[in-house]
Amino acid sequence: MENTSLEQKTEKYLCPTYARYPLAVKTASGCRLYDFQGREYIDLLAGISVCNLGHSHPEIVQAICSQAGKLVHTSNLFYQEEQVLLSEKLVETCHLDKVFFCNSGAEANEAAIKLMRRYMSRVRGENRHELITFSGSFHGRTLATMTATGQDKIKEGFAPLPEGFRHVPLNDVQALEDAVNENTAAIMAECIQGEGGIKLMSPEFKKKINELQRSRDILLIVDEIQTGMGRTGSLWAFEQEGLEPDMFTSSKALAAGLPMGALLAREEVASAFGPGSHGTTFGGGPLPSVAALKSLEIIQRDGLLDYCRDLGQWAANRFRETGRKCPGTIREVRGRGLMLGIELEFPGKDVWQALLDRGFVLNLTQESVLRLLPPLTITGQDLEQFALALEQVLQKH
Ligand SMILES: Cc1ncc(COP(=O)(O)O)c(C=O)c1O
Repeated sequence: MENTSLEQKTEKYLCPTYARYPLAVKTASGCRLYDFQGREYIDLLAGISVCNLGHSHPEIVQAICSQAGKLVHTSNLFYQEEQVLLSEKLVETCHLDKVFFCNSGAEANEAAIKLMRRYMSRVRGENRHELITFSGSFHGRTLATMTATGQDKIKEGFAPLPEGFRHVPLNDVQALEDAVNENTAAIMAECIQGEGGIKLMSPEFKKKINELQRSRDILLIVDEIQTGMGRTGSLWAFEQEGLEPDMFTSSKALAAGLPMGALLAREEVASAFGPGSHGTTFGGGPLPSVAALKSLEIIQRDGLLDYCRDLGQWAANRFRETGRKCPGTIREVRGRGLMLGIELEFPGKDVWQALLDRGFVLNLTQESVLRLLPPLTITGQDLEQFALALEQVLQKH
């Protein structure tokens, strides 16, 4: 299809929920995207932290195709082998005991919020229901997860919002302490805020979260939707943050590009769900389950966690060097592993556009943060090419 007619038909038939990039990807392979004119791009976004193994990874393709020929869907009314194998594998990766599968990040967080409430009322017999989240956070677009999200702009026009949510400025230790009361059920946090502009929690803030979790007996829910599946150099980001969540959520890269979400919980917390208390038609179906199983196998087998940690450190230092070469342009380079933010001193739309024109696909968030979430299989050469292009663009700015 011609680019113009693709654009026109998108406008004609699709709800206008996205400000789309001037790009239509026709095919992709590894860390490369190809548009309808056959132009090649280096993918530094991986479908927003989804295609962590790159595009069309032969083993993922093989796993999906072979499963598609056997069984695509039955129902959660039946026992399902692939789902059980995946839940066992996921539980082995962490200190938690039980898994609930769904189809997206918002659904996984919604499940966590529902489980938090039901656990407090059914298991503990307490009237605690409030969830504390942080400014700048992003937890999804359902009514509850949007309300949990610490960004007002996404809530415009959707009132009335559900009750029971409280927001605290990120890294404000005193405000967090003050926000906890007899109604507080849980704190929900991203280890590194993605949509919020690659923002990390300070050591004091994490210490306070740990302390409140224990001393005030509240639950900690970690949102690993963007940070999980190796993105930060450990399978789950909380492993590096000194946090021990009672629940955490995963999605995005979980099934290597197929839609899947998961909530993991401590045994006691999970016991609050009973038959009929929560569910979803597609959650944990055979197709995404085999893709997720294969993805976990590849990440572990190919040493991608160490690779991602080392390459990410190198890249962050390389971009800092770019900042020194182009004074007055880069305020800060932040992140862990291959979840990196380059905060500019000014709104970055022009820089982002110039990089796209040079064949680099990345994202601009919070107006001035270039967000890099490349496949974990990206090479140092690709990142070096990007650094050189960024230098050219910034020098012209
Ligand atoms: C940290 C975080 N939580 C939740 C979500 C929502 O996930 P989904 O878009 O799959 O509903 C996102 C999506 O960007 C995210 O980055």
